[in-house]
Amino acid sequence: MNLSDKTIGFAMCGSFCTFKNAISAVKKLKETGAHIIPIMSETAYSTDTRFGACVDFRHQLEEITGEKILHTVFETEPIGPKKLLDALVILPCTGNTLAKLSNSVADSSVTLAAKAHLRNKRPLILGVSTNDGLCGAAENIGRLLARKHCFFIPFGQDDCIHKPNSLIADFTKLNETVEAALLNKQFQPILAV
Ligand SMILES: Cc1cc2nc3c(=O)[nH]c(=O)nc-3n(C[C@H](O)[C@H](O)[C@H](O)COP(=O)(O)O)c2cc1C
Repeated sequence: MNLSDKTIGFAMCGSFCTFKNAISAVKKLKETGAHIIPIMSETAYSTDTRFGACVDFRHQLEEITGEKILHTVFETEPIGPKKLLDALVILPCTGNTLAKLSNSVADSSVTLAAKAHLRNKRPLILGVSTNDGLCGAAENIGRLLARKHCFFIPFGQDDCIHKPNSLIADFTKLNETVEAALLNKQFQPILAV
C-alpha cells in the first residue's frame, strides 16, 4: 500500500531502552512519504534516563517528522473530532499503557490519543515493550488482541534466560504492520521468533 497520502500518529511511551530503535523505525516510516504526527506520553516527553536526555529524543522526533510533538491530553483530544489520523502507532507501548488501553483508561496524552482515534473506527497499531509481557501484562495483551481495530507489530521474547516474561515488538516490521492494518488486516506472523 502507498502510505504517501496517509497521516499517521506515532506515539512513544516510556520504554526508554528502545528509544533508539523507535527513532530508526519512525525514520523508515517517514521515508514512505507518510505525514507523521509525533506524540509522546508525559513520561516519555519529560524523563531523562541512562538511555539519554528527553530533550535529545524530542529534537530527533520533531526533526524527522517536521511536526511539534503532542504531549498533553489537551493536544491529543482533537484527534477524535477532527479525524486527524488514518492510523495511530504506539511504539514503544509500555506495560503501563497496555493496562490502561485494555481497561479504557484515558488519562495520558497517548491513551487519550488512542481513545479519540478509536472513536473513528480507524486502526491502532501497538508495539509492545515490557518485561512483564508474559506475566502481569499478558492478560492486557490478550484482551487487546481481541479488540476491534487493534493490531500488533509482531512481538517475541527478547531475553528468555534473564527476563523470561519480557516481550518486545520487532521494530523493523512497523511499515508492513501499518500497511496491513490500513487494510483491516493483522500482519503475520504475529509471533516473532
Ligand atoms: C529507565 C526506565 C526504563 C523503563 N523501561 C520500560 C520498558 O521497557 N517497558 C515498560 O513497560 N516500562 C518501562 N519503564 C517504566 C515506564 O516508564 C513507567 O511505567 C511509566 O509510568 C510509563 O508511562 P507511559 O506508559 O505513560 O509512557 C521504564 C522506566 C524507566 C525509568
